[in-house]
Amino acid sequence: MGKVTISTLDKMKANGEKFVCITAYDATFARIISDVGAETILVGDSLGMVLQGHDSTIPVTMEHMAYHTECVCRAAPDSLVIADMPFMSYTSPKQTMKNATELMQAGAQMVKMEGGTWLSDSISMLVERGIPVCAHLGLTPQSVNQFGGFKVQGRTPKEAKSILADAVEIQDAGASLLVLECIPAELATDISSKLDIPVIGIGAGAGTDAQVLVMHDLLGLSEHTARFVENFMAGQTTIQGALGAFVKAVKSGEYPRDEHTYN
Ligand code: KIV
Ligand code: NA
Repeated sequence: MGKVTISTLDKMKANGEKFVCITAYDATFARIISDVGAETILVGDSLGMVLQGHDSTIPVTMEHMAYHTECVCRAAPDSLVIADMPFMSYTSPKQTMKNATELMQAGAQMVKMEGGTWLSDSISMLVERGIPVCAHLGLTPQSVNQFGGFKVQGRTPKEAKSILADAVEIQDAGASLLVLECIPAELATDISSKLDIPVIGIGAGAGTDAQVLVMHDLLGLSEHTARFVENFMAGQTTIQGALGAFVKAVKSGEYPRDEHTYN
């Protein structure tokens, strides 16, 4: 594949080619995910749930994120590596810059932050200094207590309008990518077509430019999974086969289907 960069992803969006993101937290899975052709790897703060056994991502610290980012990047994957900024690690531009620097020096090629308009100054500050940013809107799990649970977002016209406005603003601030999580497919499709930057969906229907799933979920290992998760181990005999099947299903448009989608 050759090392994937943000230019690769921009070109894929322009050509209408879907790309793939899978989470990884260690070197072995990072190598496999890169080998099966996923363009991007997310070192997600979902590690708080799937590795550490917490019921949210809130307990995850910068130390945890830097450690797992180093583990993933030591595999030298061809995939572009995005590292999550954990809960409360980006409350001011200055704190954001220090913590984003740490994740980039751990080997990431981009950092991800949950939020919209209020992040604009932090995003432009990072981008001006050479740190690419992925934003994350919709169901932003670090705000689970504010939402009162892991709930689909953007269902009312007012909420939908606000998510679209946030998306436009973070693009204007200089973000390179956007993750949309658990929003109606129609809204995600609308945002993906209005934005120039590639949009990665999870529980956001088939109209985004890319799809991401937590690796443990797509391997059928998680106890409770949301409607949008498919077990790609079904019919496979190896983990490599299952991860490869996910990559293929996203690229061919076979995943996600209506049954995975919120309307
Ligand atoms: O932490 C994570 O794995 C994520 C994805 C689910 C988008 O943020
Ligand atoms: Na995350």
